[in-house]
Amino acid sequence: MSKPQKTDKHIKHILIDPESIQKRITELGAEISADYRGKELVLVCILKGAFLFTSDLCRQIDLPQKLDFMAVSSYGDATRSSGIVKIEKDLSESIQGKHVLIVEDIIDSGLTLSYIVKILQDRQPADIKVCVLCNKPSNKQQHVKVDYCGFKLEDEFVVGYGLDFKGYLRNLPYIGVVKDEYR
Ligand code: IMP
Ligand code: MG
Repeated sequence: MSKPQKTDKHIKHILIDPESIQKRITELGAEISADYRGKELVLVCILKGAFLFTSDLCRQIDLPQKLDFMAVSSYGDATRSSGIVKIEKDLSESIQGKHVLIVEDIIDSGLTLSYIVKILQDRQPADIKVCVLCNKPSNKQQHVKVDYCGFKLEDEFVVGYGLDFKGYLRNLPYIGVVKDEYR
């Protein structure tokens, strides 16, 4: 039996508990390992939100792999996409001819990921796929093909397991919904 979860005072309710997150990541890792069998991967972790997801996912992918990081900002402190995506940190190695898997925390409007896919596509990788922990399908403004998705969510603002609210709450071990009074 799992331990009762202590919630943070900012959290309205827990949406996905730590065990369910790990179970789903194990499934995703197995699926990715099978799909890319015989190939080598470059995992591109989109900072900061995907840092925990990537660290758990990479250990469930049984393939030769390299890890690289990219940081973009799109939201500032608001809870809706600004439409402006800025590269804060670029990849450290070329992805030309590589099989690239972008690992992102969450897709909402799709603005952030469609921009990242576009600029990485221009660098002539062998192929690019997208793996997101959470997908909010109700809110797409840009069409982004999501190849691997951990969880489909409703249109609620969530935090924890890497996801932040104004930079905070990334350290929560679960994914939860922020109380309306804090938003
Ligand atoms: P999009 O550009 O609208 O798809 O938003 C994607 C980015 O916004 C993600 O990389 C997150 O950093 C952030 N984001 C979107 N929804 C949430 C949320 O519910 N919680 C925390 N961050 C979010
Ligand atoms: Mg993010």
